[in-house]
Amino acid sequence: MTSAAALRPQPRPGILAIDAYTPGRSQVAGVAKIHKMSSNESPLGPSPKAVEAFRASIGDLARYPDGSASVLREAIGRRYGLEPSRIICGNGSDELLALLAHAFLQPGDEGLYSEYGFLEYPICIRAAGGVPVTAKETDKTVSVDAMLAKAGARTKIVYLANPNNPTGTYIPFSEVKRLQAGLPAHALLVIDAAYAEYVTRNDYAAGIELAATCENVVMTRTFSKIHGLASLRIGWAYGPPHVLDALNRIRGPFNVNGPALAAGAASLGDTAHIEAAIAHNSLWAPWLSDAISALGIEVMPSAGNFLLLQFKDAGSARDADGFLSARGFILRAMGAYGLPDCLRLTVGDEEANQGVVAALAEFMRGDHG
Ligand SMILES: Cc1ncc(COP(=O)(O)O)c(C=O)c1O
Repeated sequence: MTSAAALRPQPRPGILAIDAYTPGRSQVAGVAKIHKMSSNESPLGPSPKAVEAFRASIGDLARYPDGSASVLREAIGRRYGLEPSRIICGNGSDELLALLAHAFLQPGDEGLYSEYGFLEYPICIRAAGGVPVTAKETDKTVSVDAMLAKAGARTKIVYLANPNNPTGTYIPFSEVKRLQAGLPAHALLVIDAAYAEYVTRNDYAAGIELAATCENVVMTRTFSKIHGLASLRIGWAYGPPHVLDALNRIRGPFNVNGPALAAGAASLGDTAHIEAAIAHNSLWAPWLSDAISALGIEVMPSAGNFLLLQFKDAGSARDADGFLSARGFILRAMGAYGLPDCLRLTVGDEEANQGVVAALAEFMRGDHG
């Protein structure tokens, strides 16, 4: 470092070792018609009721929003039968995942997550001065035994995405309970259930029961996926009062904006729209999985609104990514997750789904696979 650089303000040690999160691409130079299948957004978009509430809120843009998000917390409480005082809203669930690390990690404490866990977790852990620790997965699925083997006196936070992004796999609720039961009482288990609404397996539960009854469990949810409101940045967490108390002390006083509060609350009231989004996914996720498997590409079984495709090697995945991009289909490259032979595909609308399968078939016919 030059002497001038050494004298200027320095971020805390470790901050510059963080690899910033790379969002899914949304454009390809020279390609006009794009199907963005890279960020697990909803192909159905938001509820018309949410759009109407958003529009109605624009008369209030000069005023600060309700810092306690009470209308939204009450709407969430009504929908899920939860006590609103145990709910906190955030600027996307990303914000809450980060606040949890800031509140519960001291420098040097460990934050645990699984091998292919969501990449925001190491960012949150490092940003809070913690040390990220990973536990091996089995068949790209969280192994509770491996997680418990890595949990110890220094483990203060454990992130579990269920279902997990980017693998799409999930663990049954009995396994989540076994994880909680085996963790030290001082370790906070964060159940990130961003894709919970899409799951149609009867051994799955998002985690409400644990977050309601355990002092060391909090569940996070989002309006970015099934509600089709990713741009508004709305997430929420449900957990014990002592966890919420800590988060409420450090969050921004107006962390969720007014139009987001209004649109989120209205969206929860549009059950038909949510059911349509679930039905769309239940139809097209298996359709895509079957069609792509039939081409000789390995597809992980997914409980979410996306599929992890495994190609024969990293070169083949890279070529497929380029081939699809040139035809307007943007998938997510998985190198940052240590899965360079994989691409992640979000379930799209009918045109995008049919088109991406046709393009993949062409790619495989061209002896690229
Ligand atoms: C597992 C998981 N958790 C959290 C998030 C973040 O969601 P939000 O838009 O609410 O910040 C995502 C988004 O992709 C995700 O996949």
